[in-house]
Amino acid sequence: MRFVAVDELRPGMIIGRKIINRQKSAMIEKGIELNQKKIDHLLKNGYLGAYIIDDFSDQVEIQETVKEKTIESGIEAVSDANIGSIVEVASELVKDISKLKKISVDMLDLRSFDDYTYHHSVNVAIYAVSVATRLRLSEEKIQEIAVAALCHDLGKSKIDSHIINKKGPLTDEEFELIKKHPRYGYDILYDSFTVSSPVRQAVMCHHENENGSGYPNGMAGDEIPLYAKIIHAVDVYDALTSRRPYKGPYSPADALEYMECGANILFDAKVVEAMKSVIPAYPPGMDVTLSNGEKAVVTAHTSNAIRPKVKIYNSGQEIDLSMNPKYSDVFIIDSGFYKESEDVYEGGVEKLNEDRGKERARKKVILIVDDNKTSIVQTKAALGNKYDIVGLDSGLACLNYVKVKGEPDLIIMDIDMPVFNGMETIEKLRERNYNKINVIFLTALANKEMVMRCRCVSAKDYILKPVSPVYLKERVEIALDKKKDRE
Ligand SMILES: [Fe+2]
Ligand SMILES: [Fe+2]
Repeated sequence: MRFVAVDELRPGMIIGRKIINRQKSAMIEKGIELNQKKIDHLLKNGYLGAYIIDDFSDQVEIQETVKEKTIESGIEAVSDANIGSIVEVASELVKDISKLKKISVDMLDLRSFDDYTYHHSVNVAIYAVSVATRLRLSEEKIQEIAVAALCHDLGKSKIDSHIINKKGPLTDEEFELIKKHPRYGYDILYDSFTVSSPVRQAVMCHHENENGSGYPNGMAGDEIPLYAKIIHAVDVYDALTSRRPYKGPYSPADALEYMECGANILFDAKVVEAMKSVIPAYPPGMDVTLSNGEKAVVTAHTSNAIRPKVKIYNSGQEIDLSMNPKYSDVFIIDSGFYKESEDVYEGGVEKLNEDRGKERARKKVILIVDDNKTSIVQTKAALGNKYDIVGLDSGLACLNYVKVKGEPDLIIMDIDMPVFNGMETIEKLRERNYNKINVIFLTALANKEMVMRCRCVSAKDYILKPVSPVYLKERVEIALDKKKDRE
């Protein structure tokens, strides 16, 4: 069995794993032969792809982390907001995962746009239970985490669905409403006798960041309960790897890189470590491209998370990338269906493009201020050509630019610079009443004092050097546009 990207599915291919949908009529059973109509349906509804059975990949075994039946009941329980059924599904899910020989979430996503929230909650529960098991929490705690994860976004049902499903950027007022969903979720659960107080707390705190920049209460570090830390991290991971009407999916490898860069800033570092050991960057069944140009399918895990066993499409040869000396210089450079520059899914989203037309007409202007020229070039390269980027080599040049040309949409500011350092430059701008310019600081070190100063000048974010392109790109989008931070 292997995973085939939606645009590479062809009539005649045989489905290897059931495609579960809330609407029973949209389900596609295992063993069914695909026809054009079914493929069009998958294309139009935002599926990433499907598992296919063929001779080439018949030895690839993909571990079923959780039974199909459990996932199906989970989607139903969450969509009905039935707390009793959610608690039952939670214990099924914990039971399924406790029986695994090796805890590894190998399944790639099989959900549609339509089923997003329900499927998302079940995925978050699968990841959260896997992480909690890895962290060796007690059975009772793991069960509570499963319930909290399934319930974490229940509060969204109290918010106008037009705002939840809005394709374009959110206004400040709309984002303020979205930020209420953890509290609403807490209130829904308050009336239920079946869930404990730690479960409610976890739901309330699932958008809190390690450094205090999250919502609704801006809690930091140890103030955030462990259940919430786990759910927060896997929640973001699931949102990153999913396809939404307004964004393409990140590959598991890129999403894990994002998590790693966000450790101690957004996420708890030990939670991120545990995630890396239970979520594979290259799960069996995934297509990959190697740095020597060969295309292959991943066939099995090895002890090295980024060097699995693969089978080469052209030669049919099986290679253990962790052992084979001939391949010691060869790396995986791309994972199958995740296209680097994919921005908006083109299948049936004409209306969406129309809505976003205005937004796209003007490229956003980003100033990169850094006394190191190489660093400017690297930051520019990471952001691609989506923005108008101006590189400046000092704080003074930045102050002059803003005075002459007006406010940019974002300043990415190196802190450590001679004469005016990054912090002083932004303090000067704020003094001159440029209060609305978005700022992201780049820094080699983030201690408490630094974090406080960032807050005092209302910086959106700070990023540790050396900068990972995946992390930078995503944080820039979040700073410029609230769409990404709402899952
Ligand atoms: Fe949420
Ligand atoms: Fe969520």
